[in-house]
Amino acid sequence: MFDNANKLEKITSLAKRRGFVFSGSDIYGGFVGSYDYGPYGVELANNIKKTWWKRIVNEEVNIVGLDSAIVTHPKVWEASGHVDGFSDPLVECKECNTRSRADHLLEEIGVEADEKMSVVDLNALFSKNKGDIKCPKCGQSNFGQVSNFNLLVKTNLGNFSDDWAGEPAYLRGETCQGIYINFKNVLDTTRVKVPFGIAQIGKAFRNEIAPRQYIFRKREFEQMEMQMFVTPESEMDTYEDWKKKRWQFYLDLGFKEENIRWQNHKNLVFYARAATDIEYNFPFGFKELEGVHARGDYDLTAHQEATGVSLEYLDPTTNEKYIPHVVEASVGVDRTFLAVLTEFYDEDELGGETRTVMRFPRELAPIKVAVFPLLRNKPELVEKAKEVFTIVSKHMRAEFDDNGNVGKRYRRQDEIGTPHCVTIDFDTLGENPEHLDTVTVRDRDTGEQERVKIEGLVEYLQG
Ligand code: GAP
Repeated sequence: MFDNANKLEKITSLAKRRGFVFSGSDIYGGFVGSYDYGPYGVELANNIKKTWWKRIVNEEVNIVGLDSAIVTHPKVWEASGHVDGFSDPLVECKECNTRSRADHLLEEIGVEADEKMSVVDLNALFSKNKGDIKCPKCGQSNFGQVSNFNLLVKTNLGNFSDDWAGEPAYLRGETCQGIYINFKNVLDTTRVKVPFGIAQIGKAFRNEIAPRQYIFRKREFEQMEMQMFVTPESEMDTYEDWKKKRWQFYLDLGFKEENIRWQNHKNLVFYARAATDIEYNFPFGFKELEGVHARGDYDLTAHQEATGVSLEYLDPTTNEKYIPHVVEASVGVDRTFLAVLTEFYDEDELGGETRTVMRFPRELAPIKVAVFPLLRNKPELVEKAKEVFTIVSKHMRAEFDDNGNVGKRYRRQDEIGTPHCVTIDFDTLGENPEHLDTVTVRDRDTGEQERVKIEGLVEYLQG
């Protein structure tokens, strides 16, 4: 156990130092709300996506995958209600012109603003508390009126002239709209029958007023979304089922149960019949990690009305026609990434030394095994270590390292969360004939070492 103070700073510094997360456009001085994933970050993010996909698409009997376009016909976002209603409350400081989210400023002084509060009500609440609210940049309390700020990111994709003032296109604000507009395609081309699901992982974009808390709130982020299409009667049971499944997902990932909790939405958005969040205990407190929503037939009806294309489902046994209802599970890759860093960051003492160790479960670890020659200046050891690397790297993400001494290499691999380190020494080459063609395997968590035959190494590492 370690002192939990400054955990966010510790995590961000490790993530930068070890090549997990860099500030976006770093050499240009950064770009607000933008981050890049480095060599170990991309591996971790890919493993998070693989784990989600495996659980949702591979292991469920009736869920299929999709990869829809980021930029769609602009009318998609009119029909979905995003052009008119997808906004956050913005307030501007009159002293320094910093724009903030009114509900977040209220939250910071302990006043909760309802998600669905009208701008008029929010203005009244803001004015009532004005004296206590400080601008996060200049510290003054001199604000303008609260107004709605639309979060859709516009683009003029296409060969328009510079002064083109026509209809803009939008970068998708959530990936699930791509699923709804492909509902009929999937139904017509695959063998799915209601109840069935469509899953998608991909980038989403929002003009967040104040991106903050590291990778928690970004303008460009990635979502993993699953939409189950069900009968109207089974919507609420499906919703309860998926709440259980998603809760279990985090426990199976190795999250401590005390670090997750439910937060039901107090007021539902217009389309939702029920909605709840799984919150995670981030270094800045419990915040939304994932949303599970019962969306009724809102989305399919909206797209059917906008296009005139029937999105009804014909039940092959009852001959009944209806618009399926939707249960959604939606989570951000970036937020899961931050939750994973938070959950598995640890400091302990090993061999009388304090170390930092990321205790990632093997399936999430960016590198599964590191292979070292005991000494870098002994060509026979280096050559044998490269041979071992070639064997294991065909089965798992491996890293060859002959920099510095073995102790330093262990520290580095502990910090990037590598479960096993394999060292090739003189015994491997037969100095002790009993150990010919064996290597030492060191366990990240216990520091203990075992001699393992190269022949059975892959199976050993795969556990
Ligand atoms: N389709 C439903 C939907 O998009 P949401 O609650 O707005 O619902 C779902 O977003 C998830 O996407 C959130 O729980 C969060 O994990 C992630 N997310 C939303 N906005 C984000 C942002 N600005 N930065 C990073 N992740 C975000």
